[in-house]
Amino acid sequence: MYRTHTCGHLRITDVNRIITLSGWVQTIRKFGAISFVDLRDRYGITQLLFGEELQPLLDGHPLGREFVIQVKGFVQERENKNAHLATGDIEVLVSEFDILNTALVPPFTIQDDTDGGDDLRMKYRYLDLRRNVVKKNLELRYAITRSVRNYLHEQSFIEVETPFLIKSTPEGARDFIVPSRMNEGQFYALPQSPQTFKQLLMVSGYDRYFQIVKCFRDEDLRADRQPEFTQIDCEMSFVEQEDILNTFENMIKRIFKDVKNLDYEEPIERMSWEDAMWRFGIDKPDTRFDMELTNIKTLFQNSKSKSYPELIAGTDFPVFNQAETVIALVAPECGFYTRKQTDELTEWVKRPQIGMQGLVYIKCNADGSYKSSVDKYFDEEKLQAIAETCGARAGDLILLLAGKEEKTRKAAGELRLEMARRLNFRNTETFKLLWIIDFPLFEYDDSSNRWVARHHPFTAPKKEQIAVMLNNDPSIKNAENYLAHPFAEIKANAYDLVLNGNEVGGGSIRIFQKDLQEKMFTALGMSKEDAMQKFGFLMNAFEYGAPPHGGIAFGLDRLCSIIGGSESIRDFIAFPKNNSGRDVMLDAPSTIEDEQLKELNLQWRGK
Ligand code: AMO
Repeated sequence: MYRTHTCGHLRITDVNRIITLSGWVQTIRKFGAISFVDLRDRYGITQLLFGEELQPLLDGHPLGREFVIQVKGFVQERENKNAHLATGDIEVLVSEFDILNTALVPPFTIQDDTDGGDDLRMKYRYLDLRRNVVKKNLELRYAITRSVRNYLHEQSFIEVETPFLIKSTPEGARDFIVPSRMNEGQFYALPQSPQTFKQLLMVSGYDRYFQIVKCFRDEDLRADRQPEFTQIDCEMSFVEQEDILNTFENMIKRIFKDVKNLDYEEPIERMSWEDAMWRFGIDKPDTRFDMELTNIKTLFQNSKSKSYPELIAGTDFPVFNQAETVIALVAPECGFYTRKQTDELTEWVKRPQIGMQGLVYIKCNADGSYKSSVDKYFDEEKLQAIAETCGARAGDLILLLAGKEEKTRKAAGELRLEMARRLNFRNTETFKLLWIIDFPLFEYDDSSNRWVARHHPFTAPKKEQIAVMLNNDPSIKNAENYLAHPFAEIKANAYDLVLNGNEVGGGSIRIFQKDLQEKMFTALGMSKEDAMQKFGFLMNAFEYGAPPHGGIAFGLDRLCSIIGGSESIRDFIAFPKNNSGRDVMLDAPSTIEDEQLKELNLQWRGK
């Protein structure tokens, strides 16, 4: 028998027991004629004491870090107890030991604060996974999936697996493609999500489906994106949006209860997409802190302003007067910012990713006076009017952005997050959930001058707006003014779940009638033939009694990283890819043998 106990098991009550342990050598400390060894396994660390009589044997068979050993011994109370260790009251006085396997010196220390850089740890991920912090992350992931499975099982959901080798029907991102040997010249795609399969399962009558499933998307990677990631994918029949929101609100609360022992008691706030965009400049607002945006354009439209027409009217600041919108952000207690700091913020908003022309600031001094970068245009009274409109107080810093509506509110949203980062408002100790609802059904794609589905083409429009979709020509005559097209107004029966400013889930009520689905494809600029060729299987199925249905999918990796308090989802994936989509441990992707290419009748044309 390799072991009678694990390295995390033994306590003071086990003193005098004869036991056997197996594990990895964490550290070796020699004190004269005796040696202490910390033995580690998945469950913990136990201190071993090699007495004088074992020294000659040890000298002949020296132990090294990460050697796998087995020891037999006697549990005794420790002289120097270690309160930080669960097994810290005892040690094992070794009577026999066996080296089961030797180990090379690991390329980095197997400790919480390791000396290994990212690349090195990924190359030797199997060693990285031995570290306690990484192990804890995987344990959290397992706890979350267990909680999800328990909850959904109790709610009569059935887990059904769907295929990975499917037809290429791009959903938004690029597909990963797999050549078929048996069907020359033809290709499978890996699913971006099981979307159409779960809808087909609804047609089949499995009215509550879920699957914890790998999805594959060939898109640019970021800290919260991996080319293969896991969804908690769910679908329900005979439901409306309200049923879905309630079912999954309870699921997420159950996760918090099960894995964090946290009672998230208040109902999850619901916010329309429109509100989110105006109040926070983003469709996944971090509402752990306020700093809401204020649209103050009306102040600069002469008499249109309700509150301060006479004060601001007539001010000749062309940047504000001519802008489509002017958005204010109040950074609390930042009125002390130096010129250098405000210049830095100006440079920040001018970066290509943000793309603004400049930034106007107003410092609200503690004595009630104001200092701004536009003193030339606004006297104290006018500055005060602006400050009052956006709720700034003495000591605050007001940041103002002006420009085209969509771009400006987006930039203001980014600036809000940047200020929150600087002010340390985005701590990981609290959790704030939020539903975003009433998304636009369509989004304008300027590269192809057409409408694309904001969520995906299976999402149903709001019932009362179906007619707008059916009765209007989708073509966009004036690209500059696409917002004036009736399609821009149509709202979807779609929702996202946001956690601390991250989109952790998204779904919708689906179209379940063939006609409407066809119309949707037409609205997206697809010919009838093209739609049939790509999605005929779904539309045909809709002709055989499709029930009304809807669903949602959660990003499991994201959920884990946020609940686990980490920026990167990679920390919660056993074998992740790096930012170039590479597995540096396997060295994948890689070239394949000529023989394999030949079999597939494929040829690499080179660059
Ligand atoms: P969606 O595309 O919004 O919806 O995906 C659902 C959730 O999956 C997570 N996610 C990702 N996580 C890590 N890496 C990625 N590359 C990645 N892409 C998405 C996000 C997201 O909220 N079929 C629909 C769901 C539905 O309508 O039911 C879908 O896939 O957390």
